[in-house]
Amino acid sequence: MFTVLNQKTGKSFQISEDSAVLDGALSHGLNFPYGCQNGFCGKCKAIILNGEIEYEDEIPPAITDEDLEANMVLLCQCRAKSDLYIAVDEIDALANIEVRSLPCRVEKINRLNHDVIQILLKIPGSQSMQYLAGQYLDLEHSDFEPRAYSIANAPVNSNIVELHVRLVEDGEFTNFIFNTLKEKTILRIEGPKGDFFLREESDRPIIFIAGGTGFGPIKAILEHLIAINSERDVHLYWGVRDEVDLYSSLPSEWAGKYPAINFVPVLSEANGAWKGEHGYVHESVIRDFDDLSDYEVYACGPPVMVEAAAKSCLEKGLNKDNFYSDAFEYAFESS
Ligand SMILES: Cc1cc2nc3c(=O)[nH]c(=O)nc-3n(C[C@H](O)[C@H](O)[C@H](O)COP(=O)(O)OP(=O)(O)OC[C@H]3O[C@@H](n4cnc5c(N)ncnc54)[C@H](O)[C@@H]3O)c2cc1C
Ligand code: FES
Repeated sequence: MFTVLNQKTGKSFQISEDSAVLDGALSHGLNFPYGCQNGFCGKCKAIILNGEIEYEDEIPPAITDEDLEANMVLLCQCRAKSDLYIAVDEIDALANIEVRSLPCRVEKINRLNHDVIQILLKIPGSQSMQYLAGQYLDLEHSDFEPRAYSIANAPVNSNIVELHVRLVEDGEFTNFIFNTLKEKTILRIEGPKGDFFLREESDRPIIFIAGGTGFGPIKAILEHLIAINSERDVHLYWGVRDEVDLYSSLPSEWAGKYPAINFVPVLSEANGAWKGEHGYVHESVIRDFDDLSDYEVYACGPPVMVEAAAKSCLEKGLNKDNFYSDAFEYAFESS
């Protein structure tokens, strides 16, 4: 066993040489930031001030040459080889949120369009999942490795959890969900996870950038903003391929009902009849805003969209601390 001490908080924990450092921190109730837990998103980066770590395989993709020079590591991928002295900012808002493994029953499966399904999971008995709108969970079935899905409803009725799942061609688990999964099946969920949630202490106007089913967690955050009667200005940009991929009418309904909510759908492969925005979703955002220095941006969807959104928003003056994201990295390669 090794000891890991966080210079930023003075807190320490014990870890075995077989566990990822992030797993050790989370299992000791520490609120270290993280996202994909696959080595792609880079959210679990931390500086090693003293001590040695190792990765199981090669250096993960999210670590750049500059990171290596700065002794920056990915805590979700590295294991301790000695006692460690590290620097990580913990997230206060997650302090009282416990990650739990719970059974759940598939209450309802609704086809939302040609390739997106809404799943409602019911947590039985008096149990519920406490989470912040925007977080995700791992969905578990004994025949598959767990897959991450964002929770698409605000935590108002937290024994019902809504997911939006897009069918991936040749995707193992999504094909199972679309073709085999039946209502009343018992599954397990583990969560909540991740640090994609609304920073409620701020009153800055918000730009949401959603790609495909990245709309799910953003829907949860918007439902939460509506539930708390927030007066913050909200601009929701939802990027999809074609009009048929806009699988929910809620954004238009909200924009019609709440003056503070503005909705811009953006189609990258629109057919001739579409009169709205064309192109990639982040391009519409940067066309519409000259200066983002007063804004917060929340982006969720495919990794390439999230990266492009981050780059272009920072170029438009967004403070990097005001950019929050969740990238739908894919955990497993097809065999
Ligand atoms: C934090 C987080 C939250 C997520 N939330 C959601 C969500 O709310 N809704 C949702 O639909 N998905 C979400 N995902 C993605 C999800 O976890 C699965 O990766 C996805 O459903 C594919 O699973 P699969 O088993 O069908 O594909 P796999 O069998 O794992 O993959 C099959 C092949 O397809 C490729 N692939 C996998 N997914 C895609 C894709 N989307 N587009 C293109 N190629 C792909 C893989 O690289 C692989 O080669 C999330 C991922 C993360 C990390
Ligand atoms: S790279 Fe570690 S959580 Fe994403």
